[in-house]
Amino acid sequence: MDRTKIMDKLVALSKRRGFVFQSSEIYGGLNSCWDYGPLGIELKNNIAQLWWDEMTWWHENIVGLDASILMHPRVWEASGHVAGFSDPLVDCKTCKSRFRFDQLPIDQTEAQVRTWKLPNGEKGTTPQREDRKYCPNCGSSDLSDVRQFNLMFKTFMGPVEDSAAIVYLRPETAQGIYVNALTIAEVMRLKPPFGIAQIGKAFRNEITPGNFIFRTREFEQMEMQFFVKPTEDQKWMEYWLDKRFQYNSEKLGLSKERLRLHQHTEKELAHYAKSAYDIEYEFPFGWSELEGIHNRTDFDLSRHEEYSGKSLKIFDEETKEKYIPYIIETSAGLTRSMLALMCDKYDEDEQEGEIRVVLRLPPHLAPIKAAVFPLMKKDGLPEIAENLYRTLRKRHKVFFDVTGSIGKRYRRMDEIGTPFGITIDYESKEDQSATIRYRDTLQQIRISLDKIPEWLDQNIALER
Ligand code: GAP
Repeated sequence: MDRTKIMDKLVALSKRRGFVFQSSEIYGGLNSCWDYGPLGIELKNNIAQLWWDEMTWWHENIVGLDASILMHPRVWEASGHVAGFSDPLVDCKTCKSRFRFDQLPIDQTEAQVRTWKLPNGEKGTTPQREDRKYCPNCGSSDLSDVRQFNLMFKTFMGPVEDSAAIVYLRPETAQGIYVNALTIAEVMRLKPPFGIAQIGKAFRNEITPGNFIFRTREFEQMEMQFFVKPTEDQKWMEYWLDKRFQYNSEKLGLSKERLRLHQHTEKELAHYAKSAYDIEYEFPFGWSELEGIHNRTDFDLSRHEEYSGKSLKIFDEETKEKYIPYIIETSAGLTRSMLALMCDKYDEDEQEGEIRVVLRLPPHLAPIKAAVFPLMKKDGLPEIAENLYRTLRKRHKVFFDVTGSIGKRYRRMDEIGTPFGITIDYESKEDQSATIRYRDTLQQIRISLDKIPEWLDQNIALER
C-alpha cells in the first residue's frame, strides 16, 4: 500500500467513524484544534492506561501526579521558558504568510551571476550559488527580519487584565512534577532513584502546527521524571532509553523498522539538557520525533531552588551530605503516539474483489474489543446475542449490531480496528456456541457461549 496517502485516508476515516474531527467545525473549525470523538477517546484512553501501567504500576519506585495546568508565573521564569522558549518567526512580505525560519526551504539554484573584470579588460562571469531561504507558499524570498516568538500561551488570572495577573498555560507537564518533587518524595518515603509520572495537557502556540494531530497547539503529554544521584545519570539514561524504545515497539506495538533513535547534536540540545535522544517514528510524511529522553541534570531543581528560595536538596544517608538530584526525563506525546499507532496499523487488503480497510490495532488498545452480531434479526437470535453482549460489556467495551448484512457489519468493525467479531447463528440455538472471527486472519473458530468471556479476557490481554 502507498504509505504517502495514509494521512489523507486517516483524516477521512477519523472523521467518518468518530475518532478525531476538527474543533468547532460548524464555525469553520479552529486551526490545529481537534476533538476526540467516541472512538478516539477510547483509543487515547487505552494508550494512556498502557503507559500509566507500564510507568507506575510496574515500578514500585515510580508514583503518579496530576498537577494544575496553571502554575505560579515564577515557575516559567525559573524553568527558562519565559526567556528562552521561543521559535524564530519570519513573515513573507509578498503573500503575508508566517513561518518558522528554521523550517523554510533553501533556494540553491545558481541564481546570481557574479561579474568581474579580467586582466585583459574583458568581463568574467561566475554563476554563484545562493543559499537563500524562500517562502514555501508563494516562492518569494522577500522576507522580514527574524524575530523570536515565545510559544507560551498567556492568559490573565482574576478580573484585572494587567501584567501582574499574567499566567501561562503550561508548555510541558514536567514543571508540575519538579515543584512537587520533594513533597512527594517525603510523603511517599522515596529516595533516589525514584520517579514521578504524569499525563496531562500542554499548550504551545506553535507557528506551524500541522500534519493532523502530529503538531497541535493543545496536546497531551505523558512524562516521567526520574530522580537519580548525579553520579548515576549515565546509567539511568541508558536504562530508560532502552526501556522506552522497547515499550514503543513491544507494548504500543509500532513496527520496529519504523522506529529509530536520534541523538541530539550540541546545536539541537534544549537549554536544560546535558544529553538528549529522540525516539523517532517514520510517519507517512517522514521520520519525526515521537518521544524525547533527556538528561536534565540538576538544572530544573537548582533553578527552582534559586527562584523559590526553598531548599530542594535531598539528604544522602551514605555520605551524610545534601545534594540536588539529577533528572532523567522520558517525555512522550499521547496524541502523537495515537497518530503513530493509527498510521502504523492502517491497512487495506482485497476481500472477495473489494478493498477492505482494516485498522490492525493491537487488541489491548482497540477502542472496541469485540462486536456481537446475530446472523438474522429474527428466530430468537438477537436475544441470544444481546444476552452475550450484556455479559461481555461488564468487562470490556463491546458493540452490538443487528442491522445490515453480516459482511457489512464485519467491514464496519474492521475499519475501526475491532479485533473480534462474534456471530450468533442458528447452530447457536442448538449447541449454545458462537463463531468468533479474527479481524486480521479472517480465521473463524467455534466456542461455547459460556467460555467466551474468559476467552476474550485472554485474547485481548497484553502479554507482559
Ligand atoms: N518536557 C520535555 C518536553 O516537553 P519536547 O520534546 O518538547 O520535550 C515531548 O516534547 C513530546 O511531546 C514530543 O516528543 C511530542 O511527542 C510531544 N509534543 C511536543 N510538542 C507537541 C505538539 N505541538 N503537538 C503534539 N505533540 C507534541
